[in-house]
Amino acid sequence: MYRLAEKVDSRIDTDPDEDFVIVTEGLTKEYPFGEATIKAINGIDFKIHRGEYATIVGPSGSGKTTFLNLIGTIDNPTSGEIFFDGKQLSKMSGPDIRDLRRNKIGFVFQAFNLLEILTAAENIALPMIIKGTPARERDERVQELLEIISLPDRGDHFPIELSGGQRQRIAIARSLANKPDVVLLDEPTGQLDSNTSREIMDYLLKINKEENVTLIVVTHEDMIAREARRPLTILDGKIYEGILESFLDIKSIEEGTL
Ligand SMILES: Nc1ncnc2c1ncn2[C@@H]1O[C@H](COP(=O)(O)OP(=O)(O)OP(=O)(O)O)[C@@H](O)[C@H]1O
Ligand SMILES: [Mg+2]
Repeated sequence: MYRLAEKVDSRIDTDPDEDFVIVTEGLTKEYPFGEATIKAINGIDFKIHRGEYATIVGPSGSGKTTFLNLIGTIDNPTSGEIFFDGKQLSKMSGPDIRDLRRNKIGFVFQAFNLLEILTAAENIALPMIIKGTPARERDERVQELLEIISLPDRGDHFPIELSGGQRQRIAIARSLANKPDVVLLDEPTGQLDSNTSREIMDYLLKINKEENVTLIVVTHEDMIAREARRPLTILDGKIYEGILESFLDIKSIEEGTL
């Protein structure tokens, strides 16, 4: 059982030998809401080592997706800084950030976002097509990924011909296409039964171990959250080490199990 959770201490001036792949300082994202503003992310100081595996829990609307979008460079902060491999994003050019996103970051979005008019193999190949990977290399990587996710014969299937769990595995394979350093997964097992969800997590753990890929997984499932080496909680746009017990209590009450 995890106790709460101090606020994450992420000063950048720690041991220079430590290999942090992402560091944020005072990260803030505000959205206008009528006359007011919503602070979706409220001053997050965070850092994560290369090869680390972290999970994030938190109530709906607490800022989990916004946080992934910011550190994944698909959204811009209102204020604060993000360092990726020690490089300060606010000092990088648009094209350099785009290259970083394509080459170093994989996404599994909250809705799967597979393109229905493309086959499973084509969906997986997409990040490599965008990057300009030669066709032969691309095809080999697609087959390798289909094998990693145990769907070696389903490359020619369209998403509609696959189960929810299979589609989610394709989305995970796609996120790995360009051999990213960091994969950000937003509810990768949402809406899956517990066996399929277990299977998907096992693939992710394998990738994390064998390829030293940094994983940040947003999840609502206690089992998944608790088995991570580094469980985190986001609450009201702030991040905490550990699983905030009061949050789980709120959830248990909602589910009628407390
Ligand atoms: N594009 C936007 N415009 C305005 N407000 C937004 C926008 N995106 C998110 N928000 C607001 O920011 C807050 C955080 O949203 P976010 O999507 O990060 O929550 P979440 O923790 O991922 O929730 P869930 O568990 O439901 O996916 C919410 O109050 C949301 O309404
Ligand atoms: Mg979300």
